[in-house]
Amino acid sequence: MAHNRKKKIGLIGGGQIGGNLALLAVQKQLGDVVLYDIPAAEGLVKGKALDINQLSAVDGYDCRVTGTTDWKDVAGADVIIITAGVPRKPGMSREDLLEVNLKIMKDVAANIKQHAPNAFVINVANPLDAMVFALQKIAELPKNMVVGMAGVLDTSRFKCFVAEALGCSIRDVEALVLGGHGDDMVPLVRHSTVGGVPLTELLPKEKLDAIIKRTREGGAELVGLYKTGSAYFGPASSAIAMAESFLFDRKRVLPSAAQLNGEYGINGYFFGVPVQIGAGGVEKIITVSLNDAEKAEMTKSFESVKKTVDSVKL
Ligand code: NAD
Ligand code: LAC
Repeated sequence: MAHNRKKKIGLIGGGQIGGNLALLAVQKQLGDVVLYDIPAAEGLVKGKALDINQLSAVDGYDCRVTGTTDWKDVAGADVIIITAGVPRKPGMSREDLLEVNLKIMKDVAANIKQHAPNAFVINVANPLDAMVFALQKIAELPKNMVVGMAGVLDTSRFKCFVAEALGCSIRDVEALVLGGHGDDMVPLVRHSTVGGVPLTELLPKEKLDAIIKRTREGGAELVGLYKTGSAYFGPASSAIAMAESFLFDRKRVLPSAAQLNGEYGINGYFFGVPVQIGAGGVEKIITVSLNDAEKAEMTKSFESVKKTVDSVKL
């Protein structure tokens, strides 16, 4: 009988999102988890690992978490999720994080290249589209093995606000938010449905506009409430959905920042588009047909991403 070894999940950054990722990975029994952080945060990752391992005894989970400050422990990971980086404080844009987080990404990407070059890597650190660009270049990852997480979260925020506005089950809301992970992301209202009924037939324009605005500002709304950092439950669940699709070859179509090579008229940059994720990583990039207004919004969003990426010095 063939034996399938347990999968290994490397989490780089053991802060707010990293800790929630570790918990979710164990609760969903995705595999054994290695929670890595810098030496200054050794107690944090060792503590979170111990705490979660004790919880898994209560609930009978077989996956274990190891807290470490040694990249050698990450070697052989099937999936890596990067949350290493500073989060926003009130008043900051994601772009304000570029300089400090790029320095961190350079360190992380060089270590991935050395210790886990075959992993499927999901970046969460901001500014999202620029960080995943730098990651791919430095780690020299094949383009199918690297993505950025933003669209799953932005789409799920949009769905949450729609379900609240209609008082309906969130399970019946289908929606799509594309583009960069910035204030000009593109919620595609025309492509959204509730139980198969076009959303535009269910909510008046003013209400839809308010939902679009709140989605675009969804990250900032939480930064304003938390004051010391940004969202962490939603980002962790979103990245886990992407990791699961890879680990179990689910072939889910999830909006993700993928490297485009001509799709949507974009070349060489990472941008949020519908992506099929399976055992082969990014197996397919799906092109949505857009009308002129939607194309103009995508162009505007891409220009913001391009401006940040073009300022990245590797
Ligand atoms: P956090 O401050 O709680 O945790 C970040 C961790 O990274 C810290 O523990 C820190 O020690 C660690 N770190 C710093 N340098 C490192 C290095 N070189 N190697 C490994 N680890 C290192 O932050 P958080 O709330 O978990 O957020 C993490 C990142 O995710 C931020 O950049 C934030 O802006 C971003 N974020 C993205 C999304 C998204 O939708 N893509 C959503 C929310 C937050
Ligand atoms: C978010 C951030 C901060 O919560 O990227 O969307």
